[in-house]
Formats: sequence, structure tokens, C-alpha cells
Amino acid sequence: MNKPRIFSGIQPSGNLHIGNYLGAIKNWVKLQDQYDSIFCVVDMHAITVPQDPAELRRRTIEVAKVYLASGIDPKKSTLFIQSHISEHAELAWILNTIAKIPELEKMTQFKDKAQKAGKESASVGLFDYPILMASDILLYDTELVPVGKDQLQHIELTRTLAERFNKKFGKTFIIPKAFTTKESENIMGLDDPTKKMSKSASSEYNYIALTDDEETVRRKIKKAVTDSGSEIVYNDSKPALKNLINIYSLLSEISPKEIENKYVGKKYSDFKNALAEVIINYLTPFQKKMAKLTDEKVLEILEEGAKRVRPLAQKKLREVKKKIGFVA
Ligand code: TYM
Repeated sequence: MNKPRIFSGIQPSGNLHIGNYLGAIKNWVKLQDQYDSIFCVVDMHAITVPQDPAELRRRTIEVAKVYLASGIDPKKSTLFIQSHISEHAELAWILNTIAKIPELEKMTQFKDKAQKAGKESASVGLFDYPILMASDILLYDTELVPVGKDQLQHIELTRTLAERFNKKFGKTFIIPKAFTTKESENIMGLDDPTKKMSKSASSEYNYIALTDDEETVRRKIKKAVTDSGSEIVYNDSKPALKNLINIYSLLSEISPKEIENKYVGKKYSDFKNALAEVIINYLTPFQKKMAKLTDEKVLEILEEGAKRVRPLAQKKLREVKKKIGFVA
């Protein structure tokens, strides 16, 4: 029997951080054994905000290197670059015609990003972004989409569009489900535990980048905000500490309870020093693996991936075109 499919992607649009790893990639690595897995570098999504062309090219390859160095195995999973498969844009156009403007207007990611860009200069692409994401997911008969919490609203819209299309034109799309894990779905900013850790944060003290060196990790963790009091406890009344304990727990596979026990009677500074070491112990071998991957090797894997997914995308798009009445 065929394995059910998962699909997910990351934009090559800024410094990837441990939130991206813990919220998304770490789950992909686990799921790739049970699922037919497709992981995409979504460069077409990245250009919904201005990008420097040379940087975009460099980051696109870098994101693929992050996937591989994190443990995505190209023998088990398929990796490709979104813009290599033009069917994504074609299906997005078709889905545009069944989506409603208010459905996009209420997307919180759009509202946040449009506000940052200044409403007058936000692109139409930024507005339409969730439709392209729906197209990514629906093209491949995806059943499960492993993401962080910030993407749940987009997946809800994807489900709505798939249901609407199926109702209008007959069963065509699988209705996908999101996959998240409670402790990792929303890693918060180190400088502000009320906002998520973000690639586009204005301060580098918001995040630990996957490329940060030891000294930087220690400096950032030292500066990370903490709550009042001094006890190392894991609960909602100490959101900053809860976030740091989550990061510690997810990277070391020790439960929050065990971490609490380990630091009874110790100070925030003891815990923070240990957390910095836990992060460094994860990042050092990861970065070594990344450094070993050549651009040529990675491009080869991405081209191989595009070759594998192209027939799937073509088949689904052909079916869609036929259903809506395009002359074949
Ligand atoms: P992107 O590039 O912003 O983020 C990539 C993944 O990282 C997760 N993530 C987080 N998880 C936990 N805590 C955080 N602080 C955190 N920040 C980011 C995101 O939820 C995401 O899973 N629209 C998507 C990319 C995309 C996509 C798709 C995803 C395009 N097409 C199809 C799934 C399926 C995005 O902007 O992710």
C-alpha cells in the first residue's frame, strides 16, 4: 500500500532559526519514515516581499542544506525548489478564482506583514500568498502538513478551498490536515515571550539562528528576557522561562518536569548557562554537516526531486483543467 503523503516548505527569506527547526523540520525528520514526504524550498513565496536576487539564490540553496543537515534523507524524502515546478503558479491562479477577498483579508500573517511594509506598499503577491500555499499542498494529494502554529490559518483556508472546489467540480482534492506538536508549535522570541521567534525580527536578540556561532549563542541566551522571581518552574505564569525550558527540552529530549527537578534551588543564570550549552551541542554538529554539503551536490538533489514531483503536479493540474472546462 502507498504511504500517505506529507508536504511542507520553508521560505528562503531570512535567517532560519531554532523556531523553524523545532516547529517544523524536527517533525519532518521523524515523519519521513512513515510518510511519503515532499519538502519544498518556497522561493515563490519569498518574493512576496522584496528580495535581493543574489541573496535569494544563496538562501534557497542554504535552506535545502538546512533540511539535509537536519536529517532529511533524500533517499526517503523528496526535496525541490518551488519555482522549478510551474504548476504551483498555474493551480494558484485557478484557486484564485474560487477564493473570496474577505477570506484573504482576515489572514493574520498578511495583516502583520502588510502593516510592517506599510499598507500602500504591500504587494498583491503578499495578499495572494495563502492561495499559492494551498496550491503547493493540494497539487500533491497531501494528507498531512507539518508546520508551526502560525501556519494553521493558511491550512484552514486550504481545506476550505479544496472542499469548495470538490463541491463545485467533483472530488479532486484530498482535504489535508495540519500536524503540530504542543511544545514546539510556537517558539517565542527571546527578547519578547509574547511574540513568536521570527526570521524577520528587527533585533537579532529575538532568535538563535541555525548559523549562530558559540559566542553568539551564549551572548543571546544571556540577554534573553526572564520573568520575575528566581525559581526554575515550567508554567504559564513565567512565559519567558517556559519558552526557554521548551527549547531546552526539545533539543535535549528531557521533559520539562525533569528540567525543573534538575534545577531546583539553582539560579536563572545556572539554567541559562546550561541552556546555551544544550543549544551549542545541537548546533555544532549540525553546522559541521552543513559545511560539508557543496552547492553542486545540493542542486543535484533538488533537480532530482523536481524530476520526481513534476509528473505528480502535471497529473493533478491536468485533472483540474479538465474539470473546470479548459480544452485539453
Ligand atoms: P516560514 O518560512 O515562515 O516558516 C517555516 C516553518 O517554520 C515554522 N515556524 C515556527 N514554528 C514554531 N515556532 C516559531 N517561532 C516558528 N516560526 C516559524 C512555520 O510554522 C513553518 O512551518 N507559508 C509557510 C511556507 C509554506 C508552506 C507551504 C508550508 C509555503 N507553502 C505549504 C507548508 C505547506 C511559511 O511562511 O513558513
